[in-house]
Amino acid sequence: MKIAVLGSGFIARFYAESLHAQRRKDYIHMVYSRNRVNAAKFAEDYQLSFFTFDMWEAISHPETEVVLIALPNHLHLEAVLACAKAKKAVLCTKPLGRNAKEAKEMLDAVEDAGIFAGYLEDLCYTPKFLKSVKSIEDGNIGRVLWTKSRETHPGPHSDWFWDKEKSGGGAIIDLGCHCVEIGRNFIGKEIRPLEVMCWADTQVHPIEAEDHAIGLVKYNNGAIGQFEVSWTFRGGMDLRDEVMGTEGTIWLNSFLRTGFEMFTTGKGNSYVAEKAESNSGWLFPVGDEAHELGYPHMFTDMFDSMEKGIPPRETFYDGYIVNAILDAAFLSAKTKKWEAVIIEDWRGEQASAISEKFQDFDEYHFLIKKEILPSGVSKLILKHKITGEVTQREE
Ligand SMILES: NC(=O)c1ccc[n+]([C@@H]2O[C@H](COP(=O)([O-])OP(=O)(O)OC[C@H]3O[C@@H](n4cnc5c(N)ncnc54)[C@H](O)[C@@H]3O)[C@@H](O)[C@H]2O)c1
Repeated sequence: MKIAVLGSGFIARFYAESLHAQRRKDYIHMVYSRNRVNAAKFAEDYQLSFFTFDMWEAISHPETEVVLIALPNHLHLEAVLACAKAKKAVLCTKPLGRNAKEAKEMLDAVEDAGIFAGYLEDLCYTPKFLKSVKSIEDGNIGRVLWTKSRETHPGPHSDWFWDKEKSGGGAIIDLGCHCVEIGRNFIGKEIRPLEVMCWADTQVHPIEAEDHAIGLVKYNNGAIGQFEVSWTFRGGMDLRDEVMGTEGTIWLNSFLRTGFEMFTTGKGNSYVAEKAESNSGWLFPVGDEAHELGYPHMFTDMFDSMEKGIPPRETFYDGYIVNAILDAAFLSAKTKKWEAVIIEDWRGEQASAISEKFQDFDEYHFLIKKEILPSGVSKLILKHKITGEVTQREE
């Protein structure tokens, strides 16, 4: 398929590297950028047929089949509405909107226009992540109780991210969108997020928005999703996830210290990895960054789904739910209270009954704990189902 990319900055280049790598068949044929030099350089680097300074020209070009939005957050709505008007399939980077109101407008526009729309949440497509989700779906860690997702780095690379009006917020909107969607995937997207408690502060940078935040998202089945986001972290980009279930645990480390360590005096002066703060000393390079960050699997899912006429794994509806959760996080950071997640159009499960919360030991008891002690004795701690009495015995 022929793609028009809107924007020629940081993420547009990651997308182009992913799409044009490994002999892929879907390719970018034109770029829109407001900056003549960047547009021409981008077109030359990726051997594109056209470049333009007119967004509508890129979207409505007769050869454009799919539009890839790689513009700052405040331009996503305008670009999506233009795609809906032109009836062109659209893939939009994260976050979908600066808030849920914008995201809902985009969702309604693509649904009313009947066009394919994909939400480019790359971190829900990394090979490690896809395998973790499959393990959870197969029942390997039981009922998911708690998820934790962290994205922290020393701060973004362009002016507009630091301008609250253009970005919609600081670390919460920029990085929290990843962490929240990671948590939703682990807990189950059909489970309704109910409320959010969030701490946020501006600890280091002279900006209006928060540069550090920690939040808890409470779900209808009792699970809790924690996010930890920061633009104040020193030492590179830290992407880590944890899942705790009744039958198991998953720990993922996606970027720093993933098994590739190198020392250099810095003589080569090379690029190391996204947000690396140094290119000398002990370093943690990343083999194929695009792959480790999920871009190739993400685009494969998007284009396969488009061809099959089915929704992709990550949809505009998901983007809207993420924005709704983040809206509650912003409000909670202000009020210092749990704040409800307001969703106009919930499409998942209405009620989420937990069928077997406690583990039966026998007809009369629940099993609280079983442990083999250093003496070799296997000890049981039980609770009587009627009297509530807690007792222990050897097995
Ligand atoms: N992991 C990810 O999925 C990921 C990573 C980085 C960025 N992003 C997202 O990608 C989008 C772009 O971020 P980026 O890092 O590429 O930013 P960037 O600043 O590197 O690039 C932005 C591009 O938009 C253009 N632009 C800026 N202001 C404009 C305006 N007013 N009108 C028209 N064009 C304008 C710039 O010239 C540039 O080509 C953001 O929504 C960001 O959240 C996603």
